[in-house]
Amino acid sequence: MPTTRPTLLITRRLPQAVEDRAARDYDVRLNPEDTAYDGPTLTRKAEGADAILACASDRLDQAAIEGLPESVRAVATFSVGVDHIDLAAAKERGLMVSNTPDVLTDATADVALLLMLGAARRASEGDRMIRADGWTGWTPTQMLATHMTGKRLGIVGMGRIGRTLARRARAFDMEIHYHNRRPLPDGEAEGAIFHGDLDSLLAVSDFLSLHCPATPETNRLLNAETIAKLPDGAIVVNTARGAVVDDEALIAALKTGKLAAAGLDVFEGEPNVHPGYRDLANTFLLPHLGSATVETRNAMGFRALDNLDAFFSGRNPGDRVV
Ligand code: DGY
Repeated sequence: MPTTRPTLLITRRLPQAVEDRAARDYDVRLNPEDTAYDGPTLTRKAEGADAILACASDRLDQAAIEGLPESVRAVATFSVGVDHIDLAAAKERGLMVSNTPDVLTDATADVALLLMLGAARRASEGDRMIRADGWTGWTPTQMLATHMTGKRLGIVGMGRIGRTLARRARAFDMEIHYHNRRPLPDGEAEGAIFHGDLDSLLAVSDFLSLHCPATPETNRLLNAETIAKLPDGAIVVNTARGAVVDDEALIAALKTGKLAAAGLDVFEGEPNVHPGYRDLANTFLLPHLGSATVETRNAMGFRALDNLDAFFSGRNPGDRVV
């Protein structure tokens, strides 16, 4: 680390252990109120700062990046996703950008599995029934749901999280199928069946789990046309990004019964969730909790700081994306 401490703006409240380490090594500007900064506020708060530790809730679009004070040389995001950052604008502006891959793989795969089970087994519907004191007793036909064991799981995006979910799903004797740009190298597929064509994956996906980044190519990848290609009664889960799903189309398919259920942890326009999801009994909804364990959030913060430490020591940050 250099002898003079860089000034680091941390845009959201982070776990205590992360803020403590940041304060040990940087002159930190914290956000104890944990309010989201809009572009002009970010510019003001970043005045004179050398770097920003940002989060997925910050919108670092072209205008926000162009508005950053000259002093800012690096943005380390506390997320694996970088869709909230205009990377081309960052490159143009000469900013270093890093993310936090690997450390949230297990936690996010766990939530994908939770969504699969919760949606398939009508967990939130049952929970609501009990809380509303509406349960009149066990019956042989009450709230019959979808069995997960032995079904086919289709994974869109067989990266770290997709592969980890596949490993967990094998414990349920699920048959794993995936769609990627390229097949996994020998030895990494662990029996998962590659589909070079998305339609061919959809046709065999009793359960479909989305694990692709939000890019112009994946925008609304799940839409009326692609949903129609899923087997009737399929279950869809999303721990990737809301933009990958066309909400209107998904809600329509959940209403007609084309899809049995959906488990969603991410939404377009968060935290403003499409109200149609709230009215449906066959949705299992979480507020973007994929990486929300103490261990994972600490690890994400430490990883972001490792990247900044490397940058300010003149080394190449391990997770540099720009
Ligand atoms: C990420 O890291 O991209 C998550 O969505 C935020 O936890």
